[in-house]
Amino acid sequence: MAITVFTRIDEIKQRLDSLRQKNKTIGFVPTMGALHEGHTSLIRRSEAENDITVCSIFVNKIQFNNPADFATYPRMIEQDRRLLEKEQSDILFAPPHEEMYPEGETQNLNIDFGNLANVMEGRYRPGHFRGVAIVVNKLFSVIGSCKAYFGKKDFQQLRIISEMVRLLDLPVEIIPCETVREPDGLAMSSRNLRLTIGERMLAAKIFETLMFVRDHAGSVSPRKLQSMAMQRLNQVEGFDPQYFEIVDAGTLMPIRKWDETRSPLACTAVNVGDIRLIDNMELFS
Ligand code: PAF
Repeated sequence: MAITVFTRIDEIKQRLDSLRQKNKTIGFVPTMGALHEGHTSLIRRSEAENDITVCSIFVNKIQFNNPADFATYPRMIEQDRRLLEKEQSDILFAPPHEEMYPEGETQNLNIDFGNLANVMEGRYRPGHFRGVAIVVNKLFSVIGSCKAYFGKKDFQQLRIISEMVRLLDLPVEIIPCETVREPDGLAMSSRNLRLTIGERMLAAKIFETLMFVRDHAGSVSPRKLQSMAMQRLNQVEGFDPQYFEIVDAGTLMPIRKWDETRSPLACTAVNVGDIRLIDNMELFS
């Protein structure tokens, strides 16, 4: 069956309300498009767990702290629509910018995420999580009560959105989903499309470094292991690693001893040429 595409908020709201009145459950997969297997794994899970799956595609300008990154972010809506149709998704919500931000980009959301939004990505991408929280809160209010599917690759984003749902008591159940990787281990990301062939080959070193850290977790101190990981990443030509942190997966605070947490998580961001890639790995899983 052909997918139904909505661009207007009032129209999709009406459709979803009428589906809910017929006791249909809604699964929601928010994206910025350039869909890959990471997204299709979220869509398939949503389809398995809900009557109706809605996918949104919206490249959210206010979460880009770098205008060049926004300008070059891959946009391929027709190809995405065909993929969603093949995956038998029911509804695509693809609003234009003015539909989401009719008053301009001045919206605010007064939630103090504290440390969760200040560390790692928050430190290097000021304003990024504010932009993510504003758009996801808006999307949740459009879609209404649902299960929402997010990949663990953007672990900090997942933690912040879960915290927003908790603090605002939103009628949304967040479903964290495993990172999908290429055969060489590189985490799937729309940004991978922009790597040159040479950069793409080297990018797997990020996964190799995370595996190295997982193999040594518990036997070398977190701080020492973190600096060994940075050293390995720095040795790769063309890599400019921004951080490598070993944190508690709940608080995202760096740990100094392994017994400080039951869920240590290694997180990293690396500039590979002009492309910024992030990845993470649960260490005691
Ligand atoms: O992860 C993404 O693709 C985006 O940050 C999201 C959650 C769709 C918000 O724009």
